[in-house]
Amino acid sequence: MLNILSTSLGGLDLLASAVLILDTQGRIAYANAAAETLLDSSFKVFHGQRLSDLFINGERLVSIFEQAMQRQFDEKREDIVLERVGRHALHLNMVVSVIDDPDHPVLIELRENVQQVKLDREERILDQTQANKELIRNLAHEIKNPLGGIRGAAQLLELELPGQGLKDLREYTQVIIKESDRLQTLVDRLLAPHRRPQIVGDVNIHEVFERVRSLILAEFPQGLKIVRDYDLSLPEFRGDKEQLIQAVLNIAHNAAQALAPRIAQGDAELVLRTRIARSITIAKVRYRLALDLHIIDNGPGIPAELKDRIFYPLVSGRDGGSGLGLTLAQTFIQQHSGVIECESRPGLTDFRILIALP
Ligand SMILES: Nc1ncnc2c1ncn2[C@@H]1O[C@H](COP(=O)(O)OP(=O)(O)OP(=O)(O)O)[C@@H](O)[C@H]1O
Ligand SMILES: [Mg+2]
Repeated sequence: MLNILSTSLGGLDLLASAVLILDTQGRIAYANAAAETLLDSSFKVFHGQRLSDLFINGERLVSIFEQAMQRQFDEKREDIVLERVGRHALHLNMVVSVIDDPDHPVLIELRENVQQVKLDREERILDQTQANKELIRNLAHEIKNPLGGIRGAAQLLELELPGQGLKDLREYTQVIIKESDRLQTLVDRLLAPHRRPQIVGDVNIHEVFERVRSLILAEFPQGLKIVRDYDLSLPEFRGDKEQLIQAVLNIAHNAAQALAPRIAQGDAELVLRTRIARSITIAKVRYRLALDLHIIDNGPGIPAELKDRIFYPLVSGRDGGSGLGLTLAQTFIQQHSGVIECESRPGLTDFRILIALP
């Protein structure tokens, strides 16, 4: 009789998928390196434990294991979500095979279901954005109301101050007034997307891109090359042109700012690309066609510590940045049944805007 554990299993450590071999009680008798990575624990720790005990919802594993023990199948494939205490759930493609070893009869292969992980991540981001928006809007209103009062009071106070000799006091009131004005500007930007109703008309996306191009070139006239890579067959669509310009401009503006060192060297490049994409999922809805727009720069990339948060308000990696540009851009694009995604590494940052077409 075969004893699989006495054979050489070292080669399995080279596999990308996780492989686990279970004994007749469903306990883990072997795990390859990928399994340790996936389970985020070492074989030493879970050796001899029942696989189903590692998860909150292990019942499904128990029942599949029992079916395997009764030889109801030789091989079974299934998508499964396994939940763990205090960690992200694992979304997996699982293959359970019955093998010819009486002591270790079940081999399980697990691979992360990347598509599902991505969908879940997008869903989380979407929920979070929604909650954020609500919070910001309420907070901005709360700040806005007393702010006028504070500024007004400081002005009155200043008028009451006797003339000479009290310059110091006037400096204090000026600080209050200036800081109130700064906050006012911030709050106005926070509330901007909620203030003006959308003005919808026929939009040609290339007019939007061309406007952004000329605005960026006006600000960065030297050392920045803007490459236009347009698919001129793209259809017009219904949208708010000013909002779209603002969204694309915010992204392109960040890129140009990140390119500053390369602009100085003279090899900064910004690519504006327009394409059509088919069969796209945006915010859990599937669309047959979508605009697929890219703003790509060859700058240093987004700092690792910001990467997951760049679309959050007030997150900035720039001196003097208010961290609202991408938040606003995302809001505007979402109002067009779209989404902005970002991929970035040193030398290549690609902001992708998807907008659903009817
Ligand atoms: N193309 C890019 N390359 C490198 N970093 C980027 C890029 N785009 C965005 N970032 C980073 O993301 C941060 C957030 O951008 P965002 O536009 O939201 O805010 P900001 O530019 O800091 O301020 P604001 O746009 O409100 O003036 C930036 O500060 C920057 O660190
Ligand atoms: Mg910005």
